[in-house]
Amino acid sequence: MKKRIAVLGAGTVGSGVCKLIAENGAYMAQQSGIELEIAHVLVRDTKKNRPGVPQDVVTDDFSVILNDDSVEVVAEAMGGIEPAKTYALAALRAGKTYVTANKELVSKYWEELEQAAAQTGAGLYFEAAVAGAVPVIKAVTDSLNANQIHGIKGIINGTTNYILSKMSNEGLGYDQVLRQAQELGYAEADPTNDVEGYDAQFKLAILASLAFGKRVKVEDIHREGISQIKAEDVKIAHDLGFGIKLLAIGKMVGDELQVRVHPTMLPLEHPLCSVNGPFNAVFIDANALGEMMLYGRGAGDLPTASAVVSDVLNAFQVSKHRRYPFVAPGAPTVQVARDWESAYFIHTMAVDTPGVLAKAATILAECGVSIEAVMQKGEREEGKVPVVFVTHRTHESACMKAIERIKQMPEISAVSIIRVEK
Ligand code: NAP
Ligand code: HSE
Repeated sequence: MKKRIAVLGAGTVGSGVCKLIAENGAYMAQQSGIELEIAHVLVRDTKKNRPGVPQDVVTDDFSVILNDDSVEVVAEAMGGIEPAKTYALAALRAGKTYVTANKELVSKYWEELEQAAAQTGAGLYFEAAVAGAVPVIKAVTDSLNANQIHGIKGIINGTTNYILSKMSNEGLGYDQVLRQAQELGYAEADPTNDVEGYDAQFKLAILASLAFGKRVKVEDIHREGISQIKAEDVKIAHDLGFGIKLLAIGKMVGDELQVRVHPTMLPLEHPLCSVNGPFNAVFIDANALGEMMLYGRGAGDLPTASAVVSDVLNAFQVSKHRRYPFVAPGAPTVQVARDWESAYFIHTMAVDTPGVLAKAATILAECGVSIEAVMQKGEREEGKVPVVFVTHRTHESACMKAIERIKQMPEISAVSIIRVEK
């Protein structure tokens, strides 16, 4: 059965979709009975040379796609909010199923998209939006639906994982590795979305909503990036038996959901510590299956296209598209934790004089933060020495209060903290 689709965008992912259908289309048709035909490819610049993209179907006019009744599925790989949101709503209202790799759009405007889709019975699919080729959306919505998920921990941003892995393996500084990542095309010219944790925050909003069955809003997720991590942090962490990863964490504790993205120290023997380079992995803890980890390529043309095209095929195969009740109007919202417990690695640069350590330790004690270890490790810099405190598990609010006071100490500068998951 021949099925016509449109692709919005012909950059990394959109051109990957074209290449994948050209390469594997006959095999897909043999296996699924669905012969995909690309009817239109939407771009901004129709003159650009695009290897692998059929030039005869390239257009810069979305209305051509919207008005083509033979197109049942629109696959979007443009990114950003506008015009993607306008096109998504128009396509869904016209009864066309929308498949997207755009995590920012889904995480921020899921309600509107779902409402438009539900009105016409069209489908909304977004496997590629979280962890690229790794089928984590299908896992949490289908394969694990007999489980209650207690927690997820994910490395869901390849750029930051590449940077942290390289800092760890080669002892290089953040700025140097970021430049290399940009030269290799892993990091964009403006790397903010990746390195400051926004990309992981968008992805976690989608993944946690599905895993816990309640809408998790982007703005409810605590977010910190990796730009403050120093080569020294990575080295000291390693000496203590830990690796540093940018983790996206969703964890049910009592009635509250903890959702946070931040650099995290993990024991070197934790499976997530062996996820290196631009790879992604999601570690899931669920009540029937126990623990499992999904691992693979979270980005790139063909890996991401693999998830997009799989969604397209699924959309043609199902008799009814999945609906997401937690984004329906009036659905109960999740109670997001504003405080949580963790252990902390606190790295300070302190003047090497008697009493400084005792003063900082007193502040921690006064804030109710118990110290597990204190060490003076690393190189002396401008008359200051690195002093590292590792705390026992304590409340985030208590630790932050102590950090604010320690930062006021004239003898101490450059305080950085990393949460420790044991
Ligand atoms: P990209 O390489 O920058 O490509 C974007 C494409 O969209 C370009 O072809 C561009 O057209 C087109 N486009 C942008 N604005 C448009 C507009 N107003 N009208 C028509 N066409 C427009 O982006 P990408 O890396 O493929 O990413 C696309 C989406 O997939 C993003 O949401 C991203 O987060 C997501 N994603 C990417 C990856 C990855 O590995 N790159 C992985 C997973 C998810 P021109 O070529 O004419 O400029
Ligand atoms: N910028 C993203 C990353 C691409 O580095 O993981 C995939 O979403």
